[in-house]
Amino acid sequence: MAKQAACLQALPKREQARCLREGLKTHRRGRLRPRQAPALRFAGGPIMERDSMHAYYCDRAPYMARNVEDDPREFVRDIIAELKSLTNGQSVLEVACGTGNWTRLVAPCARTIVATDYSEGMLDVARSRQIPKTRFVHDDAYSLGKIGSERFNVGYALWLVSHLSRARWDEFFTAFHARLNPGAKVLLVDDIRRPDDTDPWYSKVDTRDSYEIRRLPNGKSYEIVKTYFTPEQLHSLLQPYADNLQIRYERPCWWAAYEVRSNQRI
Ligand SMILES: C[S@@+](CC[C@H](N)C(=O)[O-])C[C@H]1O[C@@H](n2cnc3c(N)ncnc32)[C@H](O)[C@@H]1O
Repeated sequence: MAKQAACLQALPKREQARCLREGLKTHRRGRLRPRQAPALRFAGGPIMERDSMHAYYCDRAPYMARNVEDDPREFVRDIIAELKSLTNGQSVLEVACGTGNWTRLVAPCARTIVATDYSEGMLDVARSRQIPKTRFVHDDAYSLGKIGSERFNVGYALWLVSHLSRARWDEFFTAFHARLNPGAKVLLVDDIRRPDDTDPWYSKVDTRDSYEIRRLPNGKSYEIVKTYFTPEQLHSLLQPYADNLQIRYERPCWWAAYEVRSNQRI
């Protein structure tokens, strides 16, 4: 308790009040720690806490479109190669497609692709790119109720899983796998936190989720769920749904590849 109090006291007054009000824990490797000058990051705009992630991605959409094939980083090249080989000639479901950065690459290889996101702003940008063979659907990843009765041979979600609320992990994977054929191939990719990352990152006692504050050029700040999984956590999360689960864990991102288990509870 004394250590917690000391950590709290090291924070700026406004931050102390917020931690106490919302039951926040600051942490590094699971331990309480004073944040290093995070208040500066909070300055300049109100933090949107209700539906903040949705607002964040709607507002971020104009800055998100890019041609990933021009990105020289090795992990991007690896993801492109994996996606192309996975989706070749297949019916494909992409969840949380954002501005269609990966959809653009997959569409020429796939037989068909349905790409979903819950941000209208993201989908507006994605649709404007006129990607062939692709049907964009405005849908929540936790339900995926609007894509119809089609079942897919391949499903992928890049940089979504870290944004899912812990209490709803099962809801997401149940909905996702229900839209895929038994034995369908899945690829999930998301961030590993960098040791030198100074972005404020904290958990809340009530949800047990971790959060980050993100700023956009519009001057607003947004609080979003951001879970940095360990390989062990990924394994225990995915193993109940997966055959031939393979986890690759190399900064800056982890990959999970598996086949949807045919006898899973859906
Ligand atoms: C980090 S972006 C990744 C976008 C894209 N996959 C990419 O890699 O470029 C996260 C995306 O997840 C979407 N998203 C977050 N929560 C969602 C939910 N519950 N249902 C559908 N989409 C969601 C956001 O709108 C955003 O487009």
